[in-house]
Amino acid sequence: MILPFEPLAMTFHNLNYFVDMPAEMSAQGIPETRLQLLSNVSGVFTPGVLTALVGSSGAGKTTLMDVLSGRKTGGYIEGDIKISGYPKVQETFARISGYVEQNDIHSPQVTVEESLWFSSSLRLPKEISKDQKIEFVEEVMRLVELDTLRNAIVGLPGSSGLSTEQRKRLTIAVELVANPSIIFMDEPTSGLDARAAAIVMRTVRNTVDTGRTVVCTIHQPSIDIFEAFDELLLLKRGGRVIYGGKLGVRSQILIDYFQSIDGIPSIPDGYNPATWMLEVTNPAVEQRTDRDFADIYQNSEQYREVEGSITRLSVPPPDSQPLKFSSIYSQDQLSQFLICLKKQTLVYWRSPRYNLVRLVFTMVCALIYGSVFWDVGNQRQVILAYN
Ligand SMILES: Nc1ncnc2c1ncn2[C@@H]1O[C@H](COP(=O)(O)OP(=O)(O)O)[C@@H](O)[C@H]1O
Ligand SMILES: [Mg+2]
Repeated sequence: MILPFEPLAMTFHNLNYFVDMPAEMSAQGIPETRLQLLSNVSGVFTPGVLTALVGSSGAGKTTLMDVLSGRKTGGYIEGDIKISGYPKVQETFARISGYVEQNDIHSPQVTVEESLWFSSSLRLPKEISKDQKIEFVEEVMRLVELDTLRNAIVGLPGSSGLSTEQRKRLTIAVELVANPSIIFMDEPTSGLDARAAAIVMRTVRNTVDTGRTVVCTIHQPSIDIFEAFDELLLLKRGGRVIYGGKLGVRSQILIDYFQSIDGIPSIPDGYNPATWMLEVTNPAVEQRTDRDFADIYQNSEQYREVEGSITRLSVPPPDSQPLKFSSIYSQDQLSQFLICLKKQTLVYWRSPRYNLVRLVFTMVCALIYGSVFWDVGNQRQVILAYN
């Protein structure tokens, strides 16, 4: 890629996250004052490796990504988060990370290329020349296969413009043009059919192959999607880890791990390992067989291996420096204002009907007020004389 970036590994160790007990739950007679949403979660995200964050709905996948990326403003966070061996500092981390939210938000009136141009102008450092930015946007468009749609208007979801899958690729591209080293994606394939999900996964894979660190939460992945991942972090309710580490070719390492646990049936031939692992670890099975997969994991060889890599990656590489930037934001306030102004002007320019309605509305209001106060003058006596 034309713009260099620093490959960065992220490690987190014994991460706990609590929130104040919601009032509804206290009302039900739960005595604790805090609700724990993540419990001793540890793991490693390395450059060029695609990590899947899997778990049933409500397991805490989004919570974990939000805590790691520093998006949680409330609650209490405990534990170590390190970037390339140095403790994470939110101001610098924000400059090197991207977050693809589950729900995409785009300006409907602008084109694909303009959306990317807007994001890159705001988020790339000042030192990068305009030509380089243009070339970089071009490169990102090719990477997510949106170059043929560069002049397409984004439009409103479900009614006009880009399809759900193209919109998702645009969301990924908007983050990519900021040239982040670490990217989080929250359920990028949810709500897509198999073909569309495969296209999105291909672009995610392209992104990882540029050497970035990518973490994706996924929900009910198909076998093809699941096998595109290199590593897995499997969570269960209450934010506890059941499995962390490599998946292996055809998920063999994962399958071997679970099959080695006493009483777990072998995976049927050709069965989707993602579905299988969720089935054999679901809470009903835990209750029936009276065991806790999180405890089993904590005592496993697999867990010690992950701990080993956390220890190894928790020391900064020799001759390295912690991340440092001369300013908090890549652009100064005046440039930010001008970039936003330019985009907003474009949005208004492309909305003639909205502008016409505003104009007519203002004129009608002016006529109503004008006729009510016609010839009243501005002397108090004159107004009084009316009564
Ligand atoms: N601010 C909060 N206060 C109380 N409970 C929360 C809060 N945020 C999330 N939760 C709960 O934490 C659990 C995990 O949520 P989430 O991370 O969104 O799950 P998912 O794995 O589906 O992304 C859910 O049971 C949710 O209700
Ligand atoms: Mg979620």
